[in-house]
Amino acid sequence: MSPSRQAAGQGPTANPTGSSLDRRRFLIVLGGAAAHAALAPHAAWSRKLGLPLPALQPWTLPADPPASALELARALVGAAILAPSNWNSQPWRMEVDGGSIRLLADPTRALPVTDPDRSGMLVSLGAALENMLVTMRAYGLRPTVRYFPAGDSRGPVAEVTWTGDEARRDRQLFAAIPNRRTNRRSYDGRGIFMQNRAALAAQMSEDLRLHWIGDRDQIRNVADLLQDATRAQVLDAASERERLAWMRFGDDQARERGDGVTVDDLELGGPARWFARRYFNPRSRFIGLGAGSAGKQAREAIGSSGALALLAAPRRTEFSCLTGGQAYERFALKATQLGIAHQPMNAAIEVERFRPDLARSFGAPGEHPLMLVRLGHAKRPRPSLRRAVALVASFRNT
Ligand SMILES: Cc1cc2nc3c(=O)[nH]c(=O)nc-3n(C[C@H](O)[C@H](O)[C@H](O)COP(=O)(O)O)c2cc1C
Repeated sequence: MSPSRQAAGQGPTANPTGSSLDRRRFLIVLGGAAAHAALAPHAAWSRKLGLPLPALQPWTLPADPPASALELARALVGAAILAPSNWNSQPWRMEVDGGSIRLLADPTRALPVTDPDRSGMLVSLGAALENMLVTMRAYGLRPTVRYFPAGDSRGPVAEVTWTGDEARRDRQLFAAIPNRRTNRRSYDGRGIFMQNRAALAAQMSEDLRLHWIGDRDQIRNVADLLQDATRAQVLDAASERERLAWMRFGDDQARERGDGVTVDDLELGGPARWFARRYFNPRSRFIGLGAGSAGKQAREAIGSSGALALLAAPRRTEFSCLTGGQAYERFALKATQLGIAHQPMNAAIEVERFRPDLARSFGAPGEHPLMLVRLGHAKRPRPSLRRAVALVASFRNT
């Protein structure tokens, strides 16, 4: 076990080929039936009215550990899927097998053009993993994680097992799980207190780096960089087409799918809000206006921030992306607990040629940026949508 993996404190890293479980043996038996029972009243009404099944996850979690093993597993998966993910793509699947949960990437929910090396996907999976771990600790369980850092794209990325009867820990972070939001509003420019920065920095593991910018001139430099990166990203037809597929035009479309980001939640300003379908369609002649508007919005959003944080790894590995996602989620939960609004803004990471300048502007040349986050103060937005536990998890009756 490498020191960094020990530092993560969550058990040994397994050989990715060491997965002996035959996933065909997974049956949606117990949990599937229970989840179906939970959805059944809606299903009956939906059938009567000819409506699609409202298979959405509520933003609530049991405050105390459920007594039954099945309900406990459902609560843990329920916590995982409240994690942030790139474009709310929710690129995860869970396999529950008695006292263990395997977390797998769902390649059908990848963004191969925007995120060709799967960094964003692994960060999202790491965030989901961390929500499970926080919930286990808050329930008085002791989790152990096996990582499968370089598995195939459909394979497991981690497996969590647990034992019981520990003191309950991480309860404030747990309470923040249903309250965390990506906040894309304009912030009021107030700074972030040093003691709050320290509390946020304390969420990092020692194999990761967290860099801060609070100085107005430096914030403006990053704002300019983000404007250029965002513009370039929108003008790249293939990658913009991919992101357009995750944009939801209206709440009905979002509710039907239970994923993606609505135009309202993107907080677009001016005509882009009304003409988003055209502004962000690479085949439209308005795409230039869309790119200009998105770039300006990114610059203004960064400019209104109280501080910027860059989460980086000394070098990119699949493992560092996964633990980066875990660290980001702890950071986001702590910020939520402290009442600090935050938004990842990753265009200058996703468009590779901007990465070195971004790292340099945080005094971190040569490091691999994982998440650029703006922080500040603003009214909390509404929660985004999630696909329900029954749709993302299979349960084995052992
Ligand atoms: C790897 C990663 C990259 C992200 N990049 C951005 C981004 O560039 N801009 C943005 O507004 N939100 C970004 N987000 C936030 C997601 O859009 C957000 O988590 C998702 O829409 C669900 O909303 P929620 O966080 O409010 O639950 C990112 C999230 C992750 C995990």
